[in-house]
Amino acid sequence: MDRITLINELMTKKKLTNYLEIGVFNGRVFFRVKSTFKVAVDPFFAFDSLRKIGKLFINPYNFFNRFFEKKSDDFFAQDADRVFDNKKVQLSLIDGMHEYRYALRDVENTLKYLSDDGVIIMHDCNPVTKEEAGTFEEWKAKEFKGQWNGDVWKTILHLRTFRDDIDVFVLDCDQGLGIVTKRKPESRLSFTQAQIDQFTYEDFDKNRAAWINLKQPDYIKGYFNL
Ligand SMILES: C[S@@+](CC[C@H](N)C(=O)[O-])C[C@H]1O[C@@H](n2cnc3c(N)ncnc32)[C@H](O)[C@@H]1O
Repeated sequence: MDRITLINELMTKKKLTNYLEIGVFNGRVFFRVKSTFKVAVDPFFAFDSLRKIGKLFINPYNFFNRFFEKKSDDFFAQDADRVFDNKKVQLSLIDGMHEYRYALRDVENTLKYLSDDGVIIMHDCNPVTKEEAGTFEEWKAKEFKGQWNGDVWKTILHLRTFRDDIDVFVLDCDQGLGIVTKRKPESRLSFTQAQIDQFTYEDFDKNRAAWINLKQPDYIKGYFNL
């Protein structure tokens, strides 16, 4: 299962209409989402107006898209209250800056606007090599070549440690799709902030299934009655 399949299955079967994507790049996922109210946030969209118009013909749901070409922190500080004033977020893909604290702020900010039965999907939660789990600086030094998941896995550890009001697990597919809902947590972790900060990729690799609450992709079907 990949993120676009999961997103559109949730959209269709749960009859959702409101979608937020943080980190959109060329819109490969965003423009294919079947949702009447879609919000895109990215400091550098990798598409122009012509591509936006073209996407209208491919997927008519793109008619009411709203684009915010800025960092997610700025979007939440400047626009989110107005944008989500009478429309709660029902489904969100968080796929912006793949660093622990950035991803954490994106999740915590999105939770403020998420409907009670809403769903957050976080990309890049299960890096399979140390290289893919490196820092932004390391990825930049490689001229942004190859896959970069960063340390979003630490965001999962943080949420499972410090939040008792959300359920968090990761599907073992598409580089690790983190799922966050406002349900009671199935299980939690008991790390300190200092421990999370100090954990290395090797620590993660030894404990990944337990730490990120890794589930087989099919788990999602029972979880959401799909
Ligand atoms: C991996 S790409 C997103 C891919 C897209 N979601 C998909 O599924 O095909 C990551 C994007 O995050 C954007 N980004 C980086 N920092 C960001 C930030 N602070 N806020 C929002 N987006 C950010 C980058 O510009 C880049 O386009």
